[in-house]
Amino acid sequence: MELRYGMNVNEKGHLTISGCDTVELAQKYGTPLYVLDEKFVRKNCREIKDAMAKYFPNGKVMYASKALNNLAMLKIVDSEGLGVDAVSGGELYAALKAGINPEKLELHGNSKCEDEIVLAVENQIGCIIADGLDELDLIENVCKKLNKKASVSIRLRPNIDVHAHTAVQTAKMDCKFGFGISDGQALEGAKRIHNSEFMTLCGIHCHIGSQIFEQEPFAVLCGHFVDFAKTLKTELGITVAEFNFGGGFGVRYTAEDQPKPAESFVKVIFDTLDALCTQNGIAVPKVAFELGRFIVGEAGTTLYTVNGVKEIPDVRTYCMSDGGMFENVRTALYGAVYEAACASKMNQNHVKSVAIAGKCCESGDMITFDSPMPESLEVGDILSVFTTGAYNYSMASNYNRNPVPAMVLVNDGKDDLIVKRQTYDDIIANDLIPESLK
Ligand code: LLP
Repeated sequence: MELRYGMNVNEKGHLTISGCDTVELAQKYGTPLYVLDEKFVRKNCREIKDAMAKYFPNGKVMYASKALNNLAMLKIVDSEGLGVDAVSGGELYAALKAGINPEKLELHGNSKCEDEIVLAVENQIGCIIADGLDELDLIENVCKKLNKKASVSIRLRPNIDVHAHTAVQTAKMDCKFGFGISDGQALEGAKRIHNSEFMTLCGIHCHIGSQIFEQEPFAVLCGHFVDFAKTLKTELGITVAEFNFGGGFGVRYTAEDQPKPAESFVKVIFDTLDALCTQNGIAVPKVAFELGRFIVGEAGTTLYTVNGVKEIPDVRTYCMSDGGMFENVRTALYGAVYEAACASKMNQNHVKSVAIAGKCCESGDMITFDSPMPESLEVGDILSVFTTGAYNYSMASNYNRNPVPAMVLVNDGKDDLIVKRQTYDDIIANDLIPESLK
């Protein structure tokens, strides 16, 4: 197992992340514990910003906050100059509370509720990415009521297949997201925005999927964008100001994943757009991305305490962790594969295959199935599971009434708590007992 950026092993044989001893972090904050490496997040932000500066100097980089949305994380990406994409009223509210300039915020969602549109319009956020015709009516009505205008872009569903888990393919024909192009709905949507006194069309958008390693689907998307932009020019006389390519850059979960640098995606898009726009006589518009996993995935590590080691002869060895699907549902939900190590015994050979089990009451609650661990793995050891920064905390639940773990931000030997561990009282805080049961 190759250590990630910012990780090391100290003289005690403990894993360190950005100079912080993970065993000490586990003692100080308890486990399970999400550890977020601030420098790693900033490095990723800079990688995409530098690539954009090279090819699209007026381009825009948003952070898809669904990957990890909390106030400290939002502050970090904001200080790096990224905008923030929210996919619910809750994410938008957090971004506003983090003090992010509303102009740098965007709202997504295939089923936006009126209160979410109200929050967006009242705060005059940069862009609402519309997902369907009914939503345009809702935006129009909310704007009328509030007597405010909204910048709206259109999310397209051009029917692109990518090599990703079916749950995260988002631009196929049979999929709930976006306006179809071939059925005329996207054009109809653009017309409605164009004819509205309350909405302005700020661009077109498409997110093709997640954890993508090939550049080719992005080149294919360029073709769809240019075609549709040309249609809008011919049919409505509109020049599309922005192409938003969504997110999806793949990251490394295991050694099998060979992520490409952000620049390679940006360059393919640059080369393809350059050629296509020239051919079609349109100017290259502003290019935008909204990246989640790429920004935060590898910057996160989860620490666990071993509660037991159960050998099933000739079958496998289960290691009982104090985490599980309530804090990382991705193994159970998508069959995700993670790398792990024994953070308290990094200097011992990791030679014994162990399956890391969660503590929830179902057999499917597993974190890994085959993690090399030291022979001496025992109760009290600290485990580290890598690349848990994206879609772990943000998908956490209180299943089995387990508290959502704390998150600590580490940076050059300094550790700061950024999310408190839930208490049992937090968990029952919204429960009410009707009079008849008292
Ligand atoms: N933009 C839109 C419109 C999206 O729907 C998404 C992710 C992103 C950007 C960011 O994608 P990323 O850069 O993170 O790949 N829970 C799943 C991932 C769901 C992704 C949903 N949309 C998982 O754990 O793999």
